[in-house]
Amino acid sequence: MVASILAINSRVGTAIAVIGGLAVFGLLLVVTAAGELRGRRKARIPSAFRPGPSDEELESKVLIRYMLLGGVALLIIALWLPAYWWHEPARLASKQKSIATETVDQGKQQFQTLCAQCHGLDASGGARDYVIDGISRKYAEPPLKYIYDRYTKGGRNTDDITQIIYDAINRGRPGTPMPTWGLPFGGPLNSRQVDTIVAFLQSIQQPFPEATTIDGAALFEANCAICHGANAKGGVGPNLTVELQRNTRDEVTKTIMDGRLNINRPSMPAWAGLGDPAIEALVQFIESIQVR
Ligand code: HEC
Ligand code: HEC
Repeated sequence: MVASILAINSRVGTAIAVIGGLAVFGLLLVVTAAGELRGRRKARIPSAFRPGPSDEELESKVLIRYMLLGGVALLIIALWLPAYWWHEPARLASKQKSIATETVDQGKQQFQTLCAQCHGLDASGGARDYVIDGISRKYAEPPLKYIYDRYTKGGRNTDDITQIIYDAINRGRPGTPMPTWGLPFGGPLNSRQVDTIVAFLQSIQQPFPEATTIDGAALFEANCAICHGANAKGGVGPNLTVELQRNTRDEVTKTIMDGRLNINRPSMPAWAGLGDPAIEALVQFIESIQVR
């Protein structure tokens, strides 16, 4: 009961503890002062010069008094310790929760000032001009709010994805617009700041939206043209009109589903999240535009 009342709010618990402590301290002061006054009134002899209690008194009155005091102290400890122990998990949990919320808030602020210009204020992606091989091209910044679902559907597990996120932020992606942010790699952010941003990204994850059409040309236009060019003849990504001269149909399907993560040049995102029918439509579309 005591514990559950305390657990309602750790601040109330702390306040009760502080007020209780102060009350005990005040009581001690009053008792000491009163004793001192009583002593003075009785006889103005310093206590060290007053005769001590007799053997008889020591074995009865004084002994019982000390035993009572000990008993009370023991009772207080016996009640306080379990109450404290009982309350502790709730206190820890509420503290952890408040620290987690704080971390996410800090990460959100960092994201909005440092990353949103490219990845979008709500982390839904963007596109910026970027010069590759002397040619200015549109480079798509990935929508980070889908990053877990996107990579999961592309065949990776959660720990791998978290590592990919940390690596991308800490090291950057050389050969792409993604800058280096981690202090150990020459960036401006310490590991705690990177942690807060990752916590924020984890807090806003959503499932990657499945395609609403199976029109291959429309799917290509909406998702692929920005990197492979409106005519599929290449941009940030390679020319796909000769794709089946380089790769088999199965390889093409697999690349589109799983993507291809490169750490020193542009990557191909994973598109399995679009759904199997959409992937099949895209492969058929690529087949249909092959030049011979
Ligand atoms: C100048 C634009 C730019 C800025 C600023 C930027 N990014 Fe990026 N980021 C990119 C691009 C472009 C990519 C994709 C690179 C590639 O193709 O491999 C990327 C990739 C990523 C990835 C990996 C995505 C994936 O699908 O593998 C993460 C995570 C990421 N950025 C996080 C951040 C964070 C966090 C910040 C802010 C601290 C940030 N980025 C700032 C442009 C930017
Ligand atoms: C953010 C840019 C980007 C987007 C968007 C993108 N791709 Fe790619 N794609 C690439 C890059 C870069 C490569 C080359 C990867 C490499 O060299 O390892 C690539 C490679 C490929 C390949 C393999 C090419 C080869 O010969 O190895 C196929 C197939 C492909 N993309 C299809 C698609 C389809 C279909 C879509 C749309 C659903 C798409 N891509 C969207 C950047 C992109």
